[in-house]
Amino acid sequence: MTDVLAGRTALVTGAGRGIGRAVALGLADAGADLILLARSADQLEETRALLAERGLARGGALVITADLAQEEERTRSIEIALARGRIDVLVNNAATVEPLGATTEIPAAELRWAFEVNVFAPIALTTAVLPGMTDAGWGRVVNVSSGIAARPEAMPRGNAYAATKAALEAHTINLAAEVRGTGVTVNVYRPGRVETAMQEWIRAQDPARIGAALHGRFTHFAAAGELISPEESAAGLLERLGGQETGAVWEAEDPAAARPA
Ligand SMILES: NC(=O)c1ccc[n+]([C@@H]2O[C@H](COP(=O)([O-])OP(=O)(O)OC[C@H]3O[C@@H](n4cnc5c(N)ncnc54)[C@H](OP(=O)(O)O)[C@@H]3O)[C@@H](O)[C@H]2O)c1
Repeated sequence: MTDVLAGRTALVTGAGRGIGRAVALGLADAGADLILLARSADQLEETRALLAERGLARGGALVITADLAQEEERTRSIEIALARGRIDVLVNNAATVEPLGATTEIPAAELRWAFEVNVFAPIALTTAVLPGMTDAGWGRVVNVSSGIAARPEAMPRGNAYAATKAALEAHTINLAAEVRGTGVTVNVYRPGRVETAMQEWIRAQDPARIGAALHGRFTHFAAAGELISPEESAAGLLERLGGQETGAVWEAEDPAAARPA
């Protein structure tokens, strides 16, 4: 990582645990100021405490507790974040893997909710911070996706997740083309298979509900030692963030990343 991130302000969604927390810590290590967003205040406070322990995040990280599924909470979050000043780096990491199950059994409201969290929220945050970035002639947007976008057939009964991640990737690549040459880069990051609460939650589900194939697949990842740590995954994002590449789909370094998670 270069020192190009020093003194930048970075907003990381889903920064209370897992990959988002590891990305936030890595950004702080690189000298960035942090804005941490998720629903669970206690988890965000833990991340903030970890930053403080390491003497990172000059002036203290700003914590925003909000449900990104709710439009009014997104708007409020954006106002709070921008009140601090320009956002230079946006990592749209928060997501839901739910709803899982037979596609015919998924209520429309749950599908809509998944799109709110995984697609509309990243787009709303991006469009709010983009003008500041283009005015400054520098900005970094990374949308955390999944290998499922490359192979949607690999996760039957994960239709909402596959569809939302594919939509997020299309949005990302399209936007990168639109803002090419402005100094703002927009990229996708597929983090690989990472041992986080999301993986743990899937393993804990009833195979009868989510499907034995999907359940077995995720149980196998853990049993076979195929999961990488959030820190290992975050490193793959952080090492590319300072560069000029845009419109790319970045994969985590681990070979498991090439396969859908
Ligand atoms: N783990 C993997 O193997 C894997 C593989 C491929 C892709 N990914 C992607 O990597 C990203 C991070 O996943 P993870 O494994 O680190 O998951 P995680 O441990 O479940 O963390 C998800 C984070 O997002 C936040 N979040 C979820 N829903 C939210 C909402 N409605 N509003 C605000 N914040 C919300 C969560 O906090 P609250 O619950 O407190 O809101 C949490 O901080 C996701 O985009 C995921 O799709 C993960």
